[in-house]
Amino acid sequence: MQERLKELQEEAIQKVEQTDSLKELNDIRVAYLGKKGPITEVLRGMGKLSAEERPIMGALANEVREAISNKIEAKQNELEEAAVNEKLASETIDVTLPGRPVRVGNHHPLTRIIEEIEDLFIGMGYRVVEGPEVEQDYYNFEALNLPKGHPARDMQDSFYITEEILMRTHTSPVQARTMEKHDGKGPIKIICPGKVYRRDNDDATHSHQFMQIEGLVVGENIRMSDLKGTLEVFAKKMFGEDRDIRLRPSFFPFTEPSVEMDISCKICHGHGCSVCKQTGWIEILGAGMVHPNVLEMAGYDSKKYTGFAFGMGPERIAMLKYGIDDIRHFYTNDVRFLKQFSKHE
Ligand code: PHE
Repeated sequence: MQERLKELQEEAIQKVEQTDSLKELNDIRVAYLGKKGPITEVLRGMGKLSAEERPIMGALANEVREAISNKIEAKQNELEEAAVNEKLASETIDVTLPGRPVRVGNHHPLTRIIEEIEDLFIGMGYRVVEGPEVEQDYYNFEALNLPKGHPARDMQDSFYITEEILMRTHTSPVQARTMEKHDGKGPIKIICPGKVYRRDNDDATHSHQFMQIEGLVVGENIRMSDLKGTLEVFAKKMFGEDRDIRLRPSFFPFTEPSVEMDISCKICHGHGCSVCKQTGWIEILGAGMVHPNVLEMAGYDSKKYTGFAFGMGPERIAMLKYGIDDIRHFYTNDVRFLKQFSKHE
């Protein structure tokens, strides 16, 4: 019996040493130490032994069990550790490999200019208001002192959808709409960015669809000097403190008097060069005092209320600010163009 136990011990230990699978190890455990295993069987035969032999055999059987079980445990630890190491080795990351570049998008240059202009005017207490691009003839023209048949309608060749509905040709209808909503009361201080449409042939300086930003201030005692001061602050913030502005008389049916604003040329500072076509000045926007007819049509008492309005093209401003030579660049979405305005590259 003693020998049988020793034999079993050796046999089991050998098997444990030979295996390198956790599953097999478990099978060995069940086979040798389980209830139906040979050691249990040997112990079952203990009844036949004498009273002196029994404790010696019992002790030996326990020793054998323990030896096998310790061996299995050690092997199990060893195999588990090896498995973990193997997993770690197969999952190592080579941190020296060059990374894949992550492409980061950026705001469209026009969006940036518009947001910059918005921020500037919000800082001066203006609200941003939007209006529809598909507009009624009434707001696009009539309410702006351009009755049907008015010759100045030809200045803005329009896409008509029906006789009374068109794609707005400027952002000025948002003025008319906003004033109408205020029920003849002041004050109003708004800017209105948005898309406008004209039947122009696309070239370096024309696009059938472009952006405008409209400004409108209505209140008591709003004067031409307020307009001039506002535009001067805008021009200097946008283009640099060293730039001058000048207002030239102009004509818009919805403002009286009307002006066009120029800024001094960045290159020659007013002396004349090829960029400003030898004039020293570059035209930036149209503006004027809101025409009394426009105020009255929107329900304002033009004796009590006055106002000023201005309209500018963000494309033109972006072109001057960034030195862009063709308006079509804004709309063709060439990544080589767009990524020049990225903050990331
Ligand atoms: N709406 C005019 C245009 O598109 C610009 C403008 C706006 C002029 C407001 C004066 C006042 O040409």
